[in-house]
Amino acid sequence: MKLPLLVVFTFVFLQLHHTECRQISWFPDVFDSFTNKTSQITNYVRERGRRLKNYYVENVRKKFTSYFGVNSTTSQPDVTETPEDKQWRIKRKFRDFVDVAQSTDNKIFDSIAPEEEMKYHCSDEDPTIHMSTPQLIAVHGYPAEAHTIITDDGYILTVHRIPYSKEAKNKVSPRKTVLLHHGLLGSSADWIIPGPKKGLGYILSDAGYDVWLANVRGNTYSRAHVSRNVDSFEFWNFTFHEVSQHDLPAVIDYIMEVKGWDVKINYIGHSMGTTVLFALLSTKTQYNKVLRAGFALAPVAYMTEIKSPIRLLAKYSDNIEYLMKLLGANEFLPQNAVLRWLSKHACEINHYEEAICENSMFVLCGHDERQFNRSLLPLILAHVPAGASTKTLVHYAQEIKQSGRFQKFDYGAKENFKEYGTVTPPEYPLHKITLPIALFSANNDWLSSDVDVTNLYVQLANPIDHYIVPLKEFNHIDFLWAVDAPTLVYARLLQLLEEGVSKPYSTDILDSLDNNLDKLEDFMNKGSL
Ligand SMILES: *[C@@H]1O[C@H](CO)[C@@H](O)[C@H](O)[C@H]1NC(C)=O
Ligand SMILES: *[C@@H]1O[C@H](CO)[C@@H](O)[C@H](O)[C@H]1NC(C)=O
Ligand SMILES: *[C@@H]1O[C@H](CO)[C@@H](O)[C@H](O)[C@H]1NC(C)=O
Ligand SMILES: *[C@@H]1O[C@H](CO)[C@@H](O)[C@H](O)[C@H]1NC(C)=O
Repeated sequence: MKLPLLVVFTFVFLQLHHTECRQISWFPDVFDSFTNKTSQITNYVRERGRRLKNYYVENVRKKFTSYFGVNSTTSQPDVTETPEDKQWRIKRKFRDFVDVAQSTDNKIFDSIAPEEEMKYHCSDEDPTIHMSTPQLIAVHGYPAEAHTIITDDGYILTVHRIPYSKEAKNKVSPRKTVLLHHGLLGSSADWIIPGPKKGLGYILSDAGYDVWLANVRGNTYSRAHVSRNVDSFEFWNFTFHEVSQHDLPAVIDYIMEVKGWDVKINYIGHSMGTTVLFALLSTKTQYNKVLRAGFALAPVAYMTEIKSPIRLLAKYSDNIEYLMKLLGANEFLPQNAVLRWLSKHACEINHYEEAICENSMFVLCGHDERQFNRSLLPLILAHVPAGASTKTLVHYAQEIKQSGRFQKFDYGAKENFKEYGTVTPPEYPLHKITLPIALFSANNDWLSSDVDVTNLYVQLANPIDHYIVPLKEFNHIDFLWAVDAPTLVYARLLQLLEEGVSKPYSTDILDSLDNNLDKLEDFMNKGSL
């Protein structure tokens, strides 16, 4: 458990004069004609979004990886060094780095952070759209940190943090701790895009929590590995399973290392961020004792009733090679034609505008016009999709094909036998989850249906609550960005966080069971689970 150290750098803070920037006029030209269905905004944002990724890779990742000699074997080839040796060498260097950093009061951190001070000019030409998560946080006057963590299988992750609120009188991070985990195609930015008072990251910070924002392997901020090339299949050879087995433990252990081993971390996940929690808790069961409680927004475990076009992929899920060709062999980068095919379903019915229809996250997760704040769209499109492996999509598609069974990756009978000792992939043993968990679901959720969430709820040994958002249209991504998310969702979330975790069986589940009894019966009769 101690392997996946470790650190690295707290970011230089951008001393931004955010007061000057209050009146950012977003896209003066583009925005006026926003209702005009042109591809102007799509192109503009696509260009800016690409710049964000490039900026990050150029200024942070490259310096960082070269500092640790990730690439050193390319400049001075050492033919005798095996990949394992290399991994060890780099990890040792990390350890030394931490020792030095601690003894020199973290000053060494600056050597990896961008040398030139990042400047933000308040001009129409340069809106916040190409800012990274810590920059965005800093723009709003909150402290922001970036920590780098190496997993035990060599992925280099960046975790962002809002250590304390800008309203905090003493500038120390509180004991109360939350770890937020984004969903498929998302990143740490998901939690802060709506800005202070609206984004859950800020709301939790203001409520006195030390807020950690995870980034999954492969996304904008976690696109590096100690030995695997980011363009290789070896790098993208993972699903949410590997995330649950390596990323989550590394991040949780790291937070404990920073805050002390007695820290009790509250885990809040959205979408795939909940899948990885369930996969972790049912397999590495010691984490049931480590965390304080889990809060699952739009939980995804069973997948019987999926409205998302991802279900269209399910029928091809036996033919992994074909899917990889279709969706991109490594990173999920569907060719336009494929994305159009998928989005046809979503967009023809709903007449979404082009910018939304072309974005893989909206295509897969749906879109709710009424709760959607259009002003956020440019920022959202600049950050989303942040990156996911095709194999993850295939894994979900396989589950849908197997009547929603929450199971490990299916490699085919022969390979399964080698990997698992059984010809069918094993199910995740959800009954082993003992952590107190609250589920938050919504009626119009394309990926997490009433019946699936209810069935998940009854499996949990220590359920806290099953809260159903009281708004019919509420959808999968509304949990992040809906105009009314603070009142409809976060108020309840904060209440449960504060109330503690030993609440007995709530009456809500009984209500929801009543409501879903027919569906549930039908579901049981199918005998699929
Ligand atoms: C919409 O776009 C078309 C073509 O770019 C342009 O001619 C038209 O004036 C625009 N309409 C509005 C309301 O901006
Ligand atoms: C490492 O080396 C490869 C091949 O020379 C190069 O393509 C890649 O950009 C380098 N990575 C970094 C982080 O410098
Ligand atoms: C991909 O991952 C699986 C499961 O961990 C492993 O068995 C397989 O060897 C990996 N393939 C490659 C090419 O790395
Ligand atoms: C929509 O987003 C903008 C930009 O962040 C914000 O100023 C505005 O208050 C939001 N509107 C609503 C109704 O939340």
